[in-house]
Amino acid sequence: MNRRTLTVMALLALAFALIACQPAAATPVPPPQAPAESTKPAPKPEKLTVLCGAQEDWCQAMTKAFEAETGVKTSFVRMSSGEALARIRATKDSPEFSIWHGGPADGYIAATNEGLLVAYDSPSAAKIPASYKDANGHWNGVYVGALGFCSNKDVLARLGVATPTSWADLLNPKLKGQVSMAHPASSGTAYTALWTQITLNGGDVDKGFAYFRNLHNNILQYTKSGSAPGQMAGRGEVATAVIFSHDCVKFNEEGMNSLVVSFPSEGTGYEIGGVAIIKGGPEQEAAKMYVDWALTSKAQEIPPTVKSYQLPTNPDASVSAKSVKLSEVKTVEYDFIKSGEQKSGLAERFDSEIAPAPKQ
Ligand code: G6P
Repeated sequence: MNRRTLTVMALLALAFALIACQPAAATPVPPPQAPAESTKPAPKPEKLTVLCGAQEDWCQAMTKAFEAETGVKTSFVRMSSGEALARIRATKDSPEFSIWHGGPADGYIAATNEGLLVAYDSPSAAKIPASYKDANGHWNGVYVGALGFCSNKDVLARLGVATPTSWADLLNPKLKGQVSMAHPASSGTAYTALWTQITLNGGDVDKGFAYFRNLHNNILQYTKSGSAPGQMAGRGEVATAVIFSHDCVKFNEEGMNSLVVSFPSEGTGYEIGGVAIIKGGPEQEAAKMYVDWALTSKAQEIPPTVKSYQLPTNPDASVSAKSVKLSEVKTVEYDFIKSGEQKSGLAERFDSEIAPAPKQ
């Protein structure tokens, strides 16, 4: 064996040794498993507490229907818009309610700006037109309704006054002590009236307030709830009330047959009734279920069963022949974003400049 052969053999031996040191061909080892996911379904929410801003029987019908459909035990407390906002704000560190349902969007926008509502992307919201909901899902519209005058035709006849058809008509001295509306600090209805006047005056807040200073001469009483003045008119205590037109239709159907609805020729305001999840509320899962449900056509077809004739926001919901379509009345360009931003400040100004908010 010469040196060259020896070197070749040594190299071959080394190569064999290296091959021998290789691990055996790997049998595929399954990657480590993530701990098995619990197959148990998430516990079904048991209860839900709703802060409700529409008519008492509307709130009753809605919460009952949701409970019947989902089995979630649902209770509600009725509050006017301003009261509801104040309550949500005051209890924000330990909220009592998980849902706010009903009442004008201005309040929901004010609450959104204060960080009091949850942004929730409900699958049902896709059906709701963009102009009737918050782009970020903090609130969604469930109904729409126009503000109007609700007058007692017998009282008007006695006074020799024609049914009012303009905001200017309400200033008629013959109507002294014959007009009622709610207070904008407590009521969303009255706040809609306040913002409507500001809008009719080209956004000039002082001019809007000047109208209410004049109207104050004819006001018998500012109520806490928005629709109460309609009942006062129905009982003949005043000739005219500034309320949502659908509330006047309701009271008429319920037996206050002297009530007639009219609309101001200058233009009127309208509401988008909202639904939203309250941040930190105790029943967040049930609250999501509620929003998903409240936006369906099925839920929005319930109100006429309790004589509430707002227009549904879900285009698939059937519309009662008794509902006033917004296209049938002259409406102002109601800027909900601005009105929501200014709600608390303007309500306070009304309280100090025009009349204090009622206690009851
Ligand atoms: C009534 C109307 C609702 C409205 C609500 C506002 O319930 O039917 O459409 O949203 O009033 O109430 P408020 O007492 O805040 O004016």
